[in-house]
Amino acid sequence: MTSVLGLAPVVPVVVIDDAADAVPLACALVAGGLPAIEVTLRTPAALDAIRAIADEVPGAVVGAGTVISPVGVAEAVDAGARFLVSPGWTEGLLEAMKVSGVPFLPGVSTASEVVALLERGVREMKFFPAEAAGGTPYLRSLAGPLPQARFCPTGGISLASAPAYLALPNVGCVGGTWMLPGDAVAGRDWARVESLARHAATLRA
Ligand code: 3PG
Repeated sequence: MTSVLGLAPVVPVVVIDDAADAVPLACALVAGGLPAIEVTLRTPAALDAIRAIADEVPGAVVGAGTVISPVGVAEAVDAGARFLVSPGWTEGLLEAMKVSGVPFLPGVSTASEVVALLERGVREMKFFPAEAAGGTPYLRSLAGPLPQARFCPTGGISLASAPAYLALPNVGCVGGTWMLPGDAVAGRDWARVESLARHAATLRA
């Protein structure tokens, strides 16, 4: 696997507080048609959650999100992460991601950052925070001068706005938490998560 953008049109961004939720949550997402799952490194349970999904949910392609340090890269890959996502990037983080052996999406929100990553041989990026940073008009504006760059926009996207992102020529997938309502996860309503995933999975550029 060399690309994150080709895995699925929608990548759920998951914040897991209890690692025991990881496997049933991932199973529900996979059953709903969303195999690529980004578990954010924002909770103490995140690495255990990644490990559990990698070990126990064969249909899932689990990745790590909110990876903001070389240590985070190493820990995520050791836990079984098959891709890495960051809200931003530094030279050190980029280098660690490059040598990790798994595909990665460094985060950008300006044209200069896109140019800097292209200069470093990186063509796939996370556009974050997508809605606050300019949304679809901004991404559409980048497609003219910088057609080599392709994006996974994330941040503030909804079921209603996702199709407009997916229709852009430089968008490969969209990410977000919108198919994982807090009450469904807190209530362990996996049937509802599966149903919301199934709906999200029908979206396509
Ligand atoms: C993130 O990394 O937090 C994602 O961008 C999620 O954004 P969302 O909760 O606005 O979908």
